[in-house]
Amino acid sequence: MATTYKLGKSPIEVTPIGLGTWQFSRSRGFAGRYWASIPQERVVEIARATLDGGINWFDTAEVYGNGASEESLAEALREIGVARDAYIIADKWFPAFRTKRSIAKTFPVRERSLAAIATNSTVRPVIDLHQIHQPFSFSRVESQAAEMGRLVDDGRIRAVGVSNFNESRMRRAHDRLATMGLPLASNQMRYSLIDREIERNGVLDAAKELGITIIAYSPLSQGILTGRFHDGDDIRSKQGPRKWLRRFKTVGLAATRPLVECLRAVAATHDCSPAQVALAWTVQMHGTSIVAIPGASSPSQAASNAAALTVRLSPEELAELDEKGRAAERALKKK
Ligand SMILES: NC(=O)c1ccc[n+]([C@@H]2O[C@H](COP(=O)([O-])OP(=O)(O)OC[C@H]3O[C@@H](n4cnc5c(N)ncnc54)[C@H](OP(=O)(O)O)[C@@H]3O)[C@@H](O)[C@H]2O)c1
Repeated sequence: MATTYKLGKSPIEVTPIGLGTWQFSRSRGFAGRYWASIPQERVVEIARATLDGGINWFDTAEVYGNGASEESLAEALREIGVARDAYIIADKWFPAFRTKRSIAKTFPVRERSLAAIATNSTVRPVIDLHQIHQPFSFSRVESQAAEMGRLVDDGRIRAVGVSNFNESRMRRAHDRLATMGLPLASNQMRYSLIDREIERNGVLDAAKELGITIIAYSPLSQGILTGRFHDGDDIRSKQGPRKWLRRFKTVGLAATRPLVECLRAVAATHDCSPAQVALAWTVQMHGTSIVAIPGASSPSQAASNAAALTVRLSPEELAELDEKGRAAERALKKK
């Protein structure tokens, strides 16, 4: 039985690492085109490798392929035939150009997209954690949070989360839910060894103070921390805008090379990969305050990321990686 972290003060327990499923968008829609389309048979194998590796949760969103990620994930879980109470589903509502009313209105659409899960679900609602994907909407943060809280009260979800909320908005969502006797379970934020903004802008400290879990997205910095692009894997052959990001260019890779060398050295002592060390650091550096959701485009990536659950870093290794990560982030900004 893998270790689990409590998601904030909610009743949900997740393994420190989950699977992000933006990659399952079937390359549809604006957000979905970021990734090449993955054939459904491979999605099934990715989900299977994830569960076999001991991971107990999946993160999806309506905006990932306009429902394609939800459908693809649900179909894969149905095909695998795993019991509904063996995994947690985190979904997200997209607030842009909408009011709070769209939360209740689009919820049945979310349930329909995830219908393949509903068919074997008697024990749990289809969605465990429902998140507000980002804070910008025609309604105030408080109204959005209250609307989400009503879904919990109605038994349609188990917990409320937010994503990309700064400290002040996170506190406001937390406070509004508290008036309903509900916790804000999580804030999903970009966080990795080289993306440390939440350590500086008050989000991480406030999350620790209020008992809100940070769900780290892009924990491998979209592949940089695996070291494969330093080894010559060519980003220009990949679909999507990563090839235009400075961190994937020669100058960016030079900035992160010392960190990757450090990840490699630590990995060698644990007989594991640099990516596994990067994931272990993410979910161990701050006790149980941070969980991570790496995405995967192949079953071998998913299996490897799940195996990071078994890597235990020493306090000295955590501290060294912490320092090298900060230095790499600074170097990336200078270049
Ligand atoms: N809330 C938000 O606003 C938000 C924003 C971004 C992401 N997310 C969520 O967070 C999840 C993860 O973020 P992300 O996909 O941006 O970044 P990530 O997890 O850091 O990177 C995923 C990519 O890294 C490569 N990779 C993963 N594991 C690997 C391994 N073991 N070995 C070699 N390469 C590996 C793959 O690239 P290739 O496909 O090129 O092989 C994969 O597609 C997403 O799926 C999504 O669910 C949320």
